[in-house]
Amino acid sequence: MNNDWFLDEQLWLEFYSAMFSPAQFALAAEQIPQIFQLTGSRASNILDLACGPGRHVLPLAELDCKVTAVDASAYLLGKLEENLQVTKSIHPVEIIRADMREFLRPESFDLILSMWTSFGYFENPGDDQKVLENIYQSLAEGGKFLLDVAGKEYIIHNYEPLLTREMGNADLLIEEPILLDNMSRLDNQWTLVSGENVFRTSFSLNIYTAVELQDRLFAAGFSTVQVFGDLDGCEYNLDSDRLILVATR
Ligand SMILES: C[S@@+](CC[C@H](N)C(=O)[O-])C[C@H]1O[C@@H](n2cnc3c(N)ncnc32)[C@H](O)[C@@H]1O
Repeated sequence: MNNDWFLDEQLWLEFYSAMFSPAQFALAAEQIPQIFQLTGSRASNILDLACGPGRHVLPLAELDCKVTAVDASAYLLGKLEENLQVTKSIHPVEIIRADMREFLRPESFDLILSMWTSFGYFENPGDDQKVLENIYQSLAEGGKFLLDVAGKEYIIHNYEPLLTREMGNADLLIEEPILLDNMSRLDNQWTLVSGENVFRTSFSLNIYTAVELQDRLFAAGFSTVQVFGDLDGCEYNLDSDRLILVATR
């Protein structure tokens, strides 16, 4: 497997319509009030790190927020630009193509988002730590970081070697996950059946428990880290298919 699978533009192009369906955009818009509630403020200067086609950027741009949108994929940022043309944003969105291992803007944001498992991609877990350190440094004093991933507890508790999922647009996604390296890593093979087309991809993620991520966030410098089982602020437990952490600088 290519270690930098996430930089493969073909992957995002082929899986775009299955992953970023209108329903997924609508869901992200519904999440914005929850994000503000959970982070305790209606932040004004926001970084969406690994923003993709802008599921969260678009509704934020329609509010009175200054949004910086960072992603490594030219294809997905192109989709964001297309989407922004039909959005009534008060402030222009700043779009930056950058790798999260390198993006750093000291003390600039009061909220940084990493949504929908956009963390844990790097073969060297030291790179994941570097990303958290960059995020810490890019936050203003008192600023918040919200991290939304699938937790290791849920992944292991619900592990099945073969999963099929019907996507909203009638596509069928077949997942073949394998747990590796003492269950610290998840390799996955996805096969997408879309009409007459079949697309395949493989990817690999570092997976973390709530406590492992908390420790990493403290090591990056954060002063408090709260854990939730969803954006509605519920408790994290074995039924939580999302692991949400809110860290304060
Ligand atoms: C699962 S998508 C999530 C996109 C978006 N956060 C959302 O909620 O729809 C993961 C995103 O991470 C981006 N990404 C992957 N590796 C990256 C890197 N090294 N630096 C910046 N962005 C990266 C991808 O291009 C993709 O947009």
